[in-house]
Amino acid sequence: MATLDIKNLHVYYGHIHALKGIDLHVEEGEIVTLIGSNGAGKTTTLRAISGLLRTPEDTSISHDGSELTQIRADQIVARGVVHVPEGRRVFSRMSVQENLTMGAYTRKNQQMVKDDLDYVLKLFPRLQERRAQKAGTLSGGEQQMLAIGRALMSSPKVLLLDEPSMGLAPVLVETIFDSIEQLNRTRGITILLVEQNAQMALQVANRAYVLETGRITMSGDAKAMLSDPKVIAAYLGL
Ligand SMILES: Nc1ncnc2c1ncn2[C@@H]1O[C@H](COP(=O)(O)OP(=O)(O)O)[C@@H](O)[C@H]1O
Ligand SMILES: [Mg+2]
Repeated sequence: MATLDIKNLHVYYGHIHALKGIDLHVEEGEIVTLIGSNGAGKTTTLRAISGLLRTPEDTSISHDGSELTQIRADQIVARGVVHVPEGRRVFSRMSVQENLTMGAYTRKNQQMVKDDLDYVLKLFPRLQERRAQKAGTLSGGEQQMLAIGRALMSSPKVLLLDEPSMGLAPVLVETIFDSIEQLNRTRGITILLVEQNAQMALQVANRAYVLETGRITMSGDAKAMLSDPKVIAAYLGL
């Protein structure tokens, strides 16, 4: 039983058939990446998992064996499946610290919340330095750290990351990917990573799926894909 098991996922936007029957699974403790070009359906996949989109009756999305398609988005978060959306939507008028605290607003155990806050501030020292700063004044990379940090504050078992590298300078991309690896390794958080940056994503992931116009066209070991001629030609071309 995989921690995340997606079977026959279809999504329609009116007449647009955006996802055409996707099957995908993520085992506990894995980093799995879903790569694909702009418009392939990556964000749609994450939004469907998070309960933000309607799916037909014969679509199944389950987490630890229980069905997510029938429950609300906030209940999905409470189950431990937490989405860091594309474009890092932080609360720009709130401070870094307030943004992080917002991530934990439904949690009861204040000691555990405090421990998680300490963990996030150690994982991202830049956030520690900028605790009192308004989130809207952070750089893009710092806002991405904050978005991931806020998700960590809700005590996730599975993190869904939508293009965390988008728009960031190469050195910050490295930092973000290092921290993704670290929270997977040290906290055992399972990760489904959506990326256009196939090179970086395949380097950190255990397994990968390639999405093309709403269909999975390839899947397998991430490192093997790095040297697959078809992947190189389509996604790693220099
Ligand atoms: N709200 C929407 N309404 C209509 N079409 C949409 C909407 N969101 C996405 N789409 C379409 O669905 C397809 C997949 O989009 P998306 O999941 O955002 O792709 P990706 O994240 O891989 O770039 C695209 O053709 C896009 O234009
Ligand atoms: Mg997208």
